[in-house]
Amino acid sequence: MTFGSDARPHVLVTGGAGYIGSHTTLELLTAGYDVTVLDNLSNASSESLRRVGSIVGGKINFWRGDVRDGALLDRVFGGEEVGQQKISAVVHFAALKSAPESVDNPLDYYNCNVSGTISLLTAMSRHNINSFVFSSTAAVYGTPQQGVKLIPEQHDTRPENPYGRSKLMVENIIRDVCTANKDMRAVILRYFNPVGAHESGIIGESPRGTPGNLVPYVLQTVAGQRSHLNVTGLDWPTVDGSGVRDFIHVVDLAKGHVAALSYAKQLHQSTPATVSSTAILADPTIHPTCPTFNMGTGSGSSVLQLISTMESVTGLPVPWVKAPRRPGDVAEVVANPAKANGTLGWEASLGVEEMCRDAWRWKSENMDGYDGPEGPVGVEVKEGVRVVIGGGAEREGREPGSPGPNR
Ligand SMILES: NC(=O)c1ccc[n+]([C@@H]2O[C@H](COP(=O)([O-])OP(=O)(O)OC[C@H]3O[C@@H](n4cnc5c(N)ncnc54)[C@H](O)[C@@H]3O)[C@@H](O)[C@H]2O)c1
Repeated sequence: MTFGSDARPHVLVTGGAGYIGSHTTLELLTAGYDVTVLDNLSNASSESLRRVGSIVGGKINFWRGDVRDGALLDRVFGGEEVGQQKISAVVHFAALKSAPESVDNPLDYYNCNVSGTISLLTAMSRHNINSFVFSSTAAVYGTPQQGVKLIPEQHDTRPENPYGRSKLMVENIIRDVCTANKDMRAVILRYFNPVGAHESGIIGESPRGTPGNLVPYVLQTVAGQRSHLNVTGLDWPTVDGSGVRDFIHVVDLAKGHVAALSYAKQLHQSTPATVSSTAILADPTIHPTCPTFNMGTGSGSSVLQLISTMESVTGLPVPWVKAPRRPGDVAEVVANPAKANGTLGWEASLGVEEMCRDAWRWKSENMDGYDGPEGPVGVEVKEGVRVVIGGGAEREGREPGSPGPNR
């Protein structure tokens, strides 16, 4: 099944309750898609989806469950809501995402990220669903080659941890599936450093425990929840000695997924370009039915520049201390986003100031993320039961806002 010409195509978003998934769900609803989310809530709360529903006034079908559960996927893909099309495309976020954690728990990462995607692609094949957008990462590149300022898609891939390797393995699996199944169209998106929050301040990143990413850590420091930030490495050959990254506003990134789905539709409607297998072997990112795109801004900011912007946006200090470099860190990782700009017709429009402003609005209005004073908050959802969130009524679950052990 490919996209039909009827109104409101229906998309499954795996991991849609998470940080990037919830922002993308919002943009998809806004763009006129019906959305079903499948998320096991291992790193999220259903509260994010209730809030997405409240922002757009739309409803979301939500299944709490795991992408490795093939029987559940059959129910998700087979299920029908009156007035909705069957699911015709999948945006796949569900994954474990901590590079350092993956070093200690490689099997968990390969199991969730690789086996999870195989389970999903297999179920899609059973249900003849042939449009796929995949969340990959700049971690697949590893350390940029000497002299490369803006990393292009065809850059060597030498991921330096099991997380990055799991994503590269999945990229290759998707390409092979696209080669074998002539009806399949997939788009692989390699994200650089997603930060920020929706401008409403109602949804954002809600990390558990010690944040693994820079911005949530900075926000906790600004908010006084941490005494200081460790700036790891001040001796890099960069503008001020601190590491340089390509920060991208999560809303820009979410809109990139809407562009990627449109592009998948275009690929269905056109005859694939003829590209020799030798050329694809030399550069897998040019696969004609499974292209790969960098999702970045093309402009780097140093960690110290980001701290300084956060201080000026919040009017509050970010106490920091110098700390040694961490193994595996690199000086500068910035995308060349020209391919996404030209082919997807998508471009990041928000700068570091907007990223800091929106991240702080979210943080200052939600000090504990989606948790309430008594712990997790949200629609209580039993595993394997579909719940309709938003659109005025939550069905088959408790009222939103009531505490429940649902994360
Ligand atoms: N945030 C980043 O810096 C970043 C950078 C590059 C790529 N990515 C990729 O983007 C995707 C989304 O990242 P995020 O930052 O929103 O992370 P997140 O943890 O907030 O979202 C992932 C979601 O997937 C769910 N999930 C995990 N395993 C699952 C499973 N087996 N079955 C069902 N649901 C499952 C989690 O509960 C969570 O809601 C991930 O694939 C990640 O690898 C993220």
